[in-house]
Amino acid sequence: MEQFDFRSMSFYQIWIRSFADGNGDGIGDLYGVYDKLEYIASLGVDGIWFSPIYPSPNADYGYDISDYRNIHPDYGTLEQFRKVLDRAHGLGLKVILDLVINHTSDMHPWFLESRKGRDNPYSDYYIWRDPKWKGETRLPPNNWFSQFEGLAWEYCPERGQYYLHVFAKKQPDLNMDNPRVREEVKGVMRFWLDMGVDGFREDVITYISKHPQLPDGIPFLPGINGLPFYKDGPNLMAYLREFRAVAREYGAVQIGEAPMTPVKTALTYLTGEDRVLDMMIQFDTMMADCIVTEYVHLPFSLIRLKRAFSKWQKALAGKAWNALYLENHDHPRVISRYGSERFWRESGTMLAAAYLFQQGTPFIYQGQEIGMTNIRLGSIEEYKDVSSINAYHRFFTHRPKEKRLRRIHQSSRDSARTPMQWSGSGFAGFSTVQPWFAVNPNYPAVNVETEEKDPQSILNFYRKCLRLRKSSAALLKGDYREYCPLRRRLYMYERRYRSECVLVVCSFSAREQAWRLPKGFAKGSGVLLLCNYPEEGVPGRLRPYEALVLRFRASDAPAGCPG
Ligand code: GLC
Ligand code: CA
Repeated sequence: MEQFDFRSMSFYQIWIRSFADGNGDGIGDLYGVYDKLEYIASLGVDGIWFSPIYPSPNADYGYDISDYRNIHPDYGTLEQFRKVLDRAHGLGLKVILDLVINHTSDMHPWFLESRKGRDNPYSDYYIWRDPKWKGETRLPPNNWFSQFEGLAWEYCPERGQYYLHVFAKKQPDLNMDNPRVREEVKGVMRFWLDMGVDGFREDVITYISKHPQLPDGIPFLPGINGLPFYKDGPNLMAYLREFRAVAREYGAVQIGEAPMTPVKTALTYLTGEDRVLDMMIQFDTMMADCIVTEYVHLPFSLIRLKRAFSKWQKALAGKAWNALYLENHDHPRVISRYGSERFWRESGTMLAAAYLFQQGTPFIYQGQEIGMTNIRLGSIEEYKDVSSINAYHRFFTHRPKEKRLRRIHQSSRDSARTPMQWSGSGFAGFSTVQPWFAVNPNYPAVNVETEEKDPQSILNFYRKCLRLRKSSAALLKGDYREYCPLRRRLYMYERRYRSECVLVVCSFSAREQAWRLPKGFAKGSGVLLLCNYPEEGVPGRLRPYEALVLRFRASDAPAGCPG
C-alpha cells in the first residue's frame, strides 16, 4: 500500500502517564486522551505518536513491556484504544505507536520461560551467555556497562547463565538473531496495523543486532563502553528489511530512534525507494549543552546547536527526510536548556521558530507547546526515573548533595515528565486527585486554559507556526541554507522553493542583538510573516529572544542556494 504523505505533516507526542487523567486515579490514561483529541487537532498537527501504552511493570515507564498486544490497565483497554484510534482518524490525525523490540520486561512471559532453562521454546529468545571464571570467582561474559544501572549482565541461578540488558536490569535484550523472535516482532506489528494504526516509532532500533562475539568494550566509557558492539550491528539492515516488508504492506510509516548515530550512517537507513526507515530521531541536536548524555553538562552553545541543525539539513537534502524535535520524554525541557526561564514566553516562541521551519517533519512533545519548564524536586527520593536515580547515586558522588541535585534538575528526563498543565485549578487540571508525580508549581501561569485566551501565548504561536509551515511550499519542501554560522547568539536560515524564499531570524540572547539582512537580500522587500513580539521593533535590532520570519521573492534574495 502507498504511504501517506508524512513529509507535509507534524506530530504530537503523548507520554500517556502524565497527559490527562480521565478516570480520577491520578494517572493519565486513554479516557483522558480521548477528551483531549480536539485540543490536539486544534494545534494543527496531523498525527500522534504514543510512547508505550502497553502493560508494563514500569521499571522504565512503559519501555519495559510485558505484553505487546494489550493496553496497560492503568491506561484503559483495547476497546478504549480503538475508540481513541477511530476518533483520532475522524479528526484527521494519524496514530503511531512505540515499537520497543530491543528488549522486553523481565516479567514478559517469554522471559519468564526463557530464564527457566536452556531447552524450552523460549530459551533462545534472549541473549544468554555462560559466566567467565577467574579461579573460583564468577564474572560476567564481558565488561559492558548498561546505560541505566550498573553492569549490562545479570546472573540467573536457574540457568547458571547471565542475560544481557543494555538498559535497566528489568529490560532483558531480545535475541534478534533468532528468526522466531523476528517473527514475533512482525506478528506484533501486524496486530496493531490490522487494527488501523498508521506506523511506528521504533525504540533504539539501531541496537537490535549485536556483534556475534560480544567482545569487551573500552573500559573508560561508563554507560556506553559496549556501544560499538551493539549499535549498527552486522545484521541490522537485514532485520530492518524484514520489518520494512511488513510495514510496506500497510503503507505504515517507520521512525527509528538512533542514539549517537552519525549522519553518514543514518543515510544508509534513510535513503532510496527501498529505505528501511522513513525518518530518524537523531541525538545531535540534543547535545548543545552536554557530552554524550545530559548528565555530563556543558554551558549551552548555539554554535554547537547550529552545527548539528545544519549538518542534518545539508546531509539529508534531496536524499532523505528529517524528523525535527527539541523535546521528548527523554530530555529535559528545552526552554530550561536552550532558552531562558526569565524570558519564558520569548524564548519558548523563538525556539519554535528555530526548528519548526527546517526541512523535515516536526514532532512536538506534550507541554512543549505551552512552554513547560524543568521541575526542581527537593530530594532525589522524589524522582521516578531509573536513569536519573542511578546517575545521582553513581556519578560525581564526591560533590555536595545540593550540587548533585541541581545537576539532576538540569538533566533528568523526569523534568519533562511532570503532569500536563491544563489549567490553573488544583493539580493543574490534570486530575481531580493527587497525581502520580509532582506537578510543576508554575502551573498557575503556565497552562493551556490561560494560554488559549492570550493571542501572544506560546500555545498560539505554535499554532501560527504550524499553519504557516503548511501554507508555504518553501517551508514544506524548500532548500535549506544557513547564514552567519559563526554568530554566537544569532541563528539565521533560509528555506527556498522556486520563487519563494523564507528567512527565519532567531536571537538566542537575553540582550538586544544587532542584525542585518544577509548580502543579496533587497532591503525593504521582505514581508513579515511572523514575529514573537506584539509590537513592532527597531530596524536592525533584535529584542531578547526575538524571532522573525520574513518572506521574499527569490528574485529579491541572494543567488545560489543552497550554500
Ligand atoms: C529509548 C526510549 C527511552 C527508554 C530507552 C530504553 O531511548 O526513548 O525512554 O528508556 O529507549 O527503552
Ligand atoms: Ca487515570
